[in-house]
Amino acid sequence: MKLRKIVFENFRNFKQLNYEFPDGLNMIIGANGAGKTNLLEGIDFLSHFRSFRGAKLKEMVNFGGNYFSLSGGVEKDSGEKMSVETRVAETHQVKINGVKLDKITMAFDKIMVVPFTSYDLSFVDGTPAERRKFLDITTSEVSLEYLDNLITYKRLVFQRNKLLMRANEIGQIPPELDVWDNSLARVGGKIVKKRLEVIKIVRPKAKYFFSLFGVGEMELIYIPSFRIIGDIEQNLMEALKKNRKRDIEMEATSVGPHRDRLNFTHLGKDAKKFSSLGSKRALAFAIRMAEAEIIKDVKGEYPILIIDEITGELDKTRVYDLMEIVVTYPQSFIATPREEIIEGSKINVHKLEIEDGTPKIERFNI
Ligand SMILES: Nc1ncnc2c1ncn2[C@@H]1O[C@H](COP(=O)(O)OP(=O)(O)OP(=O)(O)O)[C@@H](O)[C@H]1O
Ligand SMILES: [Mg+2]
Repeated sequence: MKLRKIVFENFRNFKQLNYEFPDGLNMIIGANGAGKTNLLEGIDFLSHFRSFRGAKLKEMVNFGGNYFSLSGGVEKDSGEKMSVETRVAETHQVKINGVKLDKITMAFDKIMVVPFTSYDLSFVDGTPAERRKFLDITTSEVSLEYLDNLITYKRLVFQRNKLLMRANEIGQIPPELDVWDNSLARVGGKIVKKRLEVIKIVRPKAKYFFSLFGVGEMELIYIPSFRIIGDIEQNLMEALKKNRKRDIEMEATSVGPHRDRLNFTHLGKDAKKFSSLGSKRALAFAIRMAEAEIIKDVKGEYPILIIDEITGELDKTRVYDLMEIVVTYPQSFIATPREEIIEGSKINVHKLEIEDGTPKIERFNI
């Protein structure tokens, strides 16, 4: 998949941006604060319809403005063309090929972009919820059904917790609790089953990409919050029943996919606790690349890669190794304030220099 033309209006520090990107590696160069991350955030928004920085929609509107809109022309690997438009004002609208979507989630598997940014460090050393996020993003990208189940599941947990609170207050178990537990076990079971399938594919890929950094082995460990032997739905149902008393006391649901853990080890030790920043960054990159590869395998389409600040804590040889992987994708974007990192890399790049939200210089480096 390749992104061709983009039009940004009132997005961050881009009042108006019209640009056409070529295939291959697009290098976005510019001083600190020029708008490099903003540009990548806008491109990623056309795929995920939210900020990879976790910003609120209103915060992305150009200061003083009252809306922003982004549009992109995309070309699939088959040559098929597709357009995506999104507008955020009082409401958030998304159009694919000019047709407005009833639900934004319907667009999640249309434009495939995999970003790698410093925010991804939280996949490795964030809270359990932040680490689970990687799994939920990746699985949603290859299964819209999973995303639907996840949304339903969150609502079910919320409603069950409200019921637990009532049970605690009145000192009795409301009869509806059985109904909620059944639904929770059914949807939760599907979620865990799909996660296990995805992890099976992601694990060897992540291990491979991490091995390229030459800093030892990594392992990805998924720990469900309940024992799995045989039927997952049944297991979750039993765990909910078993923990019911405690759940009522705590007024919270203590088992289920919202409490599962995703851990990473490096050299046999918990990466969150013991790994260096460079190794954590390499780990985050490895799992993002595994995400890109699973999209490629399942959807049969190369996603667009986005990398914000490739250098980070990595040394120059590692940066080159990493770029060698990135250029095997039909189109990628790398932003950095350090232009010198591409000198001597022997890779064909299209350089776009931006200054204060405006494209300034562009050239091909052959
Ligand atoms: N909603 C907004 N409207 C206008 N400008 C904004 C908005 N949000 C952020 N900015 C501006 O965008 C600039 C930051 O852009 P960005 O984060 O893309 O920089 P960068 O080129 O990635 O820099 P660095 O190299 O430091 O990462 C800041 O100057 C900030 O004031
Ligand atoms: Mg930046």
